[in-house]
Amino acid sequence: MKVVTCIAPVNIAVIKYWGKRNEELILPINDSISTTLDTEQMCAKTTIMANPNFKENKFWLNGKEENCDNIRMQSCLKEIRKKANKNLKWFDWKIHICSENNFPTAAGLASSAAGYACLVFTLAKLYEIDGEISDVARRGSGSACRSIYGGWVRWHMGENEFGFDSIAKEIVPKSHWPEIRVIILVVNDSRKKYSSTSGMKTSVKTSSLLQYRAESIVPKRINEMIDAIKSKNFEKFAEITMKDSNQFHATCLDTYPPCVYMNDVSHSICSLVHSYNEIKKSIEVGYTFDAGPNACLYTLEKNVSEVISLINYVYPSSTPKEEYFRGIPFEDLSQNISEDLQGKVMNQRMEMDQLKYIIQTKVGSGPKMLEDESEHLLNEMGNPKVLIKTII
Ligand code: DP6
Repeated sequence: MKVVTCIAPVNIAVIKYWGKRNEELILPINDSISTTLDTEQMCAKTTIMANPNFKENKFWLNGKEENCDNIRMQSCLKEIRKKANKNLKWFDWKIHICSENNFPTAAGLASSAAGYACLVFTLAKLYEIDGEISDVARRGSGSACRSIYGGWVRWHMGENEFGFDSIAKEIVPKSHWPEIRVIILVVNDSRKKYSSTSGMKTSVKTSSLLQYRAESIVPKRINEMIDAIKSKNFEKFAEITMKDSNQFHATCLDTYPPCVYMNDVSHSICSLVHSYNEIKKSIEVGYTFDAGPNACLYTLEKNVSEVISLINYVYPSSTPKEEYFRGIPFEDLSQNISEDLQGKVMNQRMEMDQLKYIIQTKVGSGPKMLEDESEHLLNEMGNPKVLIKTII
């Protein structure tokens, strides 16, 4: 038997992908840019075992057996096998796949991007592939292609009708700008959102703003964003990130029927960030929102203490600290914001418990293989070591 275990990161787009020109091949209507987050705080983990005695392919996600027949998973398997070393002894053996996220799925935080990137990366290790695999990850979920690389990543939409050039490439590695911190505010919200896949399909059909955005706004914005990243211009980086998030949500509202992802708490977070930047007389924090109400804030390490004190003041919480603050520990949690700042944001204070929890993380590297056998999620029989994980 042959067994491989890998982990892969989450990525958060700062120039959004929204809309496909080819549904089956998952080819986008515009380029996008993201930051890859550190796997220390959030990651997907996958073990794949090939065994000549397995009767069929099997797949478990977060401890629950799922159907392997879904089209996206099948196309990842098919495409990766085209690139595989066909002389391997285990090339024709059936496989068992076991995958889990180390972060709550309920948070709706790009779990499919990390999950498909991890699946494809692990398959590539199993079949000893060294070349490009972001095109295969793209077939699982568009945004997954960006999780194949670390640091700041651009997904080139490409021109080829078969998608050969629709691949992700690293812009700069994480070491280029280590001061960047990411604070994720998970908003208390149990409403079911429309999936990105169906939302963007309706946007392509009905939103003229989306067409305009893809053709006339994004190409210029991509270049400006790359300049901001390369020159480590935080103000520019955060400004473009916020504008692009706002425009993405505007196209969602321009969709018919509209896709409403942000809620009142999300909007209040935007207002607070703008007030804070105005008080500071410079852009110290930027926000971005994906297809859900949770905020992803970008700031520099030196601002984290004040920003988190501000958030604690405006969004008081009764959740125990150990549960509420996750990821990189926030130092100095007892620190209060200055009386001056308090006075200026007092009217924005919200009722108790508008946020579920907060994760601090940073920019990280791409997927990696775990050598230690104890990391495998499957036992020697090829069954999951842990069944049905309860993840809140
Ligand atoms: C709002 O990659 O989840 O997060 O390709 O249909 O699987 P599919 O969609 P998906 O869409 C992500 C949309 C987004 C923006 C982004 O990550 O660029």
